[in-house]
Amino acid sequence: MKGGVGKTTTSVHLAAGFAAQGQRTLLVDADPQGNVGHILGVTANATIREVLLGEVPAAAAVVADVRPGLSVMVSTPAAFALDTMLAGTVQRETLMARRLQALEDFDVIVVDSSPAMSLLTYNALLFAEELVVPVGMDAMAIVGARQTLDGVREIRSLWPDRRLALTAVLPVCVNLQTYASRAALDALRQDAEMAPKLFEPGIRQCLDLTYAAAAHQTIWEYAPRSRAADDYDGLIRWLSRGGDDHQELNQDGEEVPAGIQRAVH
Ligand SMILES: Nc1ncnc2c1ncn2[C@@H]1O[C@H](COP(=O)(O)OP(=O)(O)OP(=O)(O)O)[C@@H](O)[C@H]1O
Ligand SMILES: [Mg+2]
Repeated sequence: MKGGVGKTTTSVHLAAGFAAQGQRTLLVDADPQGNVGHILGVTANATIREVLLGEVPAAAAVVADVRPGLSVMVSTPAAFALDTMLAGTVQRETLMARRLQALEDFDVIVVDSSPAMSLLTYNALLFAEELVVPVGMDAMAIVGARQTLDGVREIRSLWPDRRLALTAVLPVCVNLQTYASRAALDALRQDAEMAPKLFEPGIRQCLDLTYAAAAHQTIWEYAPRSRAADDYDGLIRWLSRGGDDHQELNQDGEEVPAGIQRAVH
């Protein structure tokens, strides 16, 4: 519910990270801004719009293996019209869940959403089982995160049979030298709902993420030794451990390296 807080950047790196771990991963762009295709340099004949309209089967809109193990379903500004085009359709909030059910080739599907509670966002939230909420380091971003969680509560009450768990609250653009970052982190730590899911210290501010996007690359391709590459590695490891802050140890008591590090470095 807040623009420019790192949703797309995080979606791309979650998906690329899971793919590098060897999981068959699909990244779905549920934002008509279409940033996912831009960042990864992908264009497609069919998009999420045609899938939701029932014009093509979901598989026809999957661009396979844009990176090893990573497939993408893109979006374009034409999807802005979905809210009006689907206004008269029954059960229009669960179209994504129903249409994407036919996709069987994936271990994990990551959905990037827009900053508005649009029909596409409802569809994303009714399709997803887990929610990752990036939060920028300013007071308004925390307000946006709380509004998102209110929206999730509403969804849970309207569709009680759907599973949608808050998996991670992710501070993004963290710069501990600034008062704004320290205050925002404190506010997240004091929030009863978000604190237990807080990934600390989050993703640090790192301009390489912007340069990587402009170069149509992930951070591991563009700047594998950057802060952001380290931080997103850490997030993937943390999520793989189920959000447990304790290190995963192997039988010899050593930390288990993340698949992504094996694959990328
Ligand atoms: N940790 C970071 N440090 C510095 N810049 C970042 C960081 N994360 C994201 N950015 C930059 O901030 C901008 C917005 O990020 P992004 O597009 O991921 O946000 P968003 O939440 O998806 O935006 P929208 O609401 O418009 O969809 C981009 O230019 C991105 O490169
Ligand atoms: Mg975005």
